[in-house]
Amino acid sequence: MNIRTVSTTPFSDQKPGTSGLRKSVTVFQTPHYLENFVQSIFDSLDGCEGQTIVLGGDGRYYNRQAIQIILKMAAANGIGRILVGKGGIMSTPAASAIIRQYKAYGGIILSASHNPGGPQGDFGIKYNITSGGPAPEKVTEAIFERSKVINRYKILEADDLNLDKLTVTRLGEMSVEVIDPVEPYARLMESLFDFERIRQLIKHDFKLCVDSMHAVTGPYAKDIFEKRLGAAGSVLNGEPLEDFGGGHPDPNLVYAHDLVEIMFANDAPDFGAASDGDGDRNMVLGNNFFVTPSDSLAVLTANATLVPGYKTGLSGVARSMPTSEAVDRVAEKLGITCYETPTGWKFFGNLLDANKATLCGEESFGTGSNHVREKDGLWAVLFWLNILAVKGESVEAIVKDHWKTYGRNYYSRHDYEEVDKERATELMDRLGGMLDGMAGKKFANYEVKYADDFSYSDPVDHSVSKNQGIRIGFTDGSRIVFRLSGTGTKGATLRLYVESYEPDANKHNLETQAALKPLIDLAQEIAQIKEYTQRDEPTVIT
Ligand code: G1P
Ligand code: ZN
Repeated sequence: MNIRTVSTTPFSDQKPGTSGLRKSVTVFQTPHYLENFVQSIFDSLDGCEGQTIVLGGDGRYYNRQAIQIILKMAAANGIGRILVGKGGIMSTPAASAIIRQYKAYGGIILSASHNPGGPQGDFGIKYNITSGGPAPEKVTEAIFERSKVINRYKILEADDLNLDKLTVTRLGEMSVEVIDPVEPYARLMESLFDFERIRQLIKHDFKLCVDSMHAVTGPYAKDIFEKRLGAAGSVLNGEPLEDFGGGHPDPNLVYAHDLVEIMFANDAPDFGAASDGDGDRNMVLGNNFFVTPSDSLAVLTANATLVPGYKTGLSGVARSMPTSEAVDRVAEKLGITCYETPTGWKFFGNLLDANKATLCGEESFGTGSNHVREKDGLWAVLFWLNILAVKGESVEAIVKDHWKTYGRNYYSRHDYEEVDKERATELMDRLGGMLDGMAGKKFANYEVKYADDFSYSDPVDHSVSKNQGIRIGFTDGSRIVFRLSGTGTKGATLRLYVESYEPDANKHNLETQAALKPLIDLAQEIAQIKEYTQRDEPTVIT
């Protein structure tokens, strides 16, 4: 077998975003596009020759072709061993778990997460480091720098491998092990949660429904909920499809409509959950009840000691800046630190490695812990089931009781998708220019306490990440936050995050959008969203 060196020219747009490089499938199909980026990864890694790399993707369209290309390039670049998921498929949290279990050098994950798939959909690729977590900025920067000057890549001339059989083969000098990621992942879950107790709960007529949205978690959910926990027929849309059945594999009230219909019907099950394209996100629902991801993180934190894997308590917690401050209140009561990080899971890595935080979460339906270094959708579902099994109360009762103790943080995110990039940047620049001197200003009933562009200084490696979103906080504890998405592939996506705090339990039953209306109107006024986006309404409200 021959190693071929192919000359190439750089693409200028290979800068990884919030979570790796994400582009439309058609961009990835451009000759040399994927290869340039993969070679930039290998060129940026010190001493990866002879090492073990984990490889898998969420199974979306182009996954199969990309896996074969990456295998041949890995062999040509001297990688010693590749652990690849059966069929080239692995959920993101399973990939993280496997990197850790096998003490691999790193991993390459192919996913565009919750973005739609299919020939006209999106594709993505990201590199994870030895800890199992997304590469930190200094690594993604190095990859980007390399991609700007790359002039050749290496690839082995070989036939495609059959990845549908669990085998160990060779590709040139490199060993290729096709593994089943479901089994080690399920075993990790069994080590954290009280499966017997959850099994008893389900046996006593507790009904659940888990929507895999025709994405990667189907086989994991069937194995865990149906086989191991005995919830026969509980998995919805459990067959992974390359185009996710034409759906948008994002677990929220808009896109997980099959589940929402079931959970908001008269005879709804007790518990419902959905996960996204690559299995790292989760949405949790009770019978006719929606749990915001921010509240979910707060409830898991408050009840963590009920779960075997966390029974000795938490070292700390962390949330991304736009995530609501509900968890801060729990941390305060527990006497532990709550870290506020920029958006993106990569910022939790150092805190988890240094044991400064045990649980982490983002408002974007992401929750996880130190068991892996990615957010983990099914883990969150099992955490909830374990709490429900111990407490014997409904989801709604647990959340409402939580609000009674800590107060309620009304919270919502408004997304303006695919708006004009230049205008969106102008909106942010204009806001940025207004921050100085805003503190102390009054807008109707609100007085500005602070206004800044969020900057994060990592407490472990002291790296500083600037311009991570504009925050305007008010004296009554409410906040509005503005950011541009770093995962979108078309135009720009403006995200507006709105939060208010209500300590009075008599006022905890308002409809969220109604409760937040004055703040939403204020955000409109301050940022002139309609004018800049040319939109009357957000595309998605979560
Ligand atoms: C979005 C979410 C962020 C999450 C990321 C990857 O990024 O907002 O919390 O970590 O997807 O799942 P954004 O598009 O806002 O940059
Ligand atoms: Zn995802």
